[in-house]
Amino acid sequence: MDRLLDKPLPLKTIMLRNRIAMPPMATELSVNDVPSDALIDYYRKRAKATGLIIVEHEYVSLEGKASPRQLSMAEGVDIAAYRRLTDAVHSQGAAIIAQVNHAGADAFDDKLPVISASDIRFWRSAFQAKAMTLGDIVRIKECFVNAAVQSKAAGFDGVEIHSAHGYLLNQFYSPLTNLRTDDYNGKTMEGRTRLHCEIIQAVREAVGQDYVVAIRFGACDYMDGGSQIAEIPEAARRFVDAGVDLIDISGGLSGYMVRGASQPGWFAELSRPVKETVNVPVLLTGGVQTGQDAEGLLQEGAADLIGVGRAMMQDADWSERALQHAG
Ligand SMILES: Cc1cc2nc3c(=O)[nH]c(=O)nc-3n(C[C@H](O)[C@H](O)[C@H](O)COP(=O)(O)O)c2cc1C
Repeated sequence: MDRLLDKPLPLKTIMLRNRIAMPPMATELSVNDVPSDALIDYYRKRAKATGLIIVEHEYVSLEGKASPRQLSMAEGVDIAAYRRLTDAVHSQGAAIIAQVNHAGADAFDDKLPVISASDIRFWRSAFQAKAMTLGDIVRIKECFVNAAVQSKAAGFDGVEIHSAHGYLLNQFYSPLTNLRTDDYNGKTMEGRTRLHCEIIQAVREAVGQDYVVAIRFGACDYMDGGSQIAEIPEAARRFVDAGVDLIDISGGLSGYMVRGASQPGWFAELSRPVKETVNVPVLLTGGVQTGQDAEGLLQEGAADLIGVGRAMMQDADWSERALQHAG
């Protein structure tokens, strides 16, 4: 059987040299909210044999900042600092995508108004969030668009819109946190994905047809009353119709793990329905430790690309080793 792990993968207009992706993981290594030398060095080392690097989440506006040393892609950020990062990763032969995010109800402080889909207090937050007005929605869309345009100017090969792990867009997708009754309501799939689709379309218009636009889709909350596996095909279809080129699967409000699961690819039950529904590449992350784990998931058809998070965080040479020993 042909090995898939080192098979190149076309992604829109770029060619990934293999099927290994480093998923976004916050390092808290920024200085003044832009890449520091240490952060650039960290990514350069991990890019050596990896196909795709998705850089840790960057906030699109200050009130959506998730942690003290999170990177910024908000308006007016120092593009040159990011250019050093994209150049470093490209010099190693990997592609690089920026993940852009708004924390919503999970903002790390309340100096600015904390906003969300609804008037909620998110379970891991100290603050009460206010439901976004239609004016807020217009403004936040512009922030995502602006972040995407700046990512392109900084040399990223694409941009990934974060809608997982309980952050703002996930708060719109989940019926547990979206209690709205307007066009962005939490009762219908159209309402739950409207903001996503409007952002994807607006980003696409701003960055052009040839630029990679991805979504990190927290596809199931694994919580009573939360988002369900059966809903995945419809959501995925809507995202692709709106213009995404890559669907990066993870969990929803419950985060990037599944309680009690330890098998590699614990979200494979979420990535499979996406693969069966749409034609864009699908990325699956969670629990992969070895090259054999990754190769097995590719052979099963669970995804087109495999994300390796904590194992790569700990071992900068993970991809090189995995390609030697994938079996
Ligand atoms: C320290 C840390 C930071 C993370 N930061 C992000 C992030 O910025 N954006 C995101 O979408 N996921 C983030 N994640 C989730 C990872 O991308 C990944 O889904 C998770 O680690 C599971 O994959 P693994 O088992 O291979 O580590 C983070 C995970 C860790 C451990």
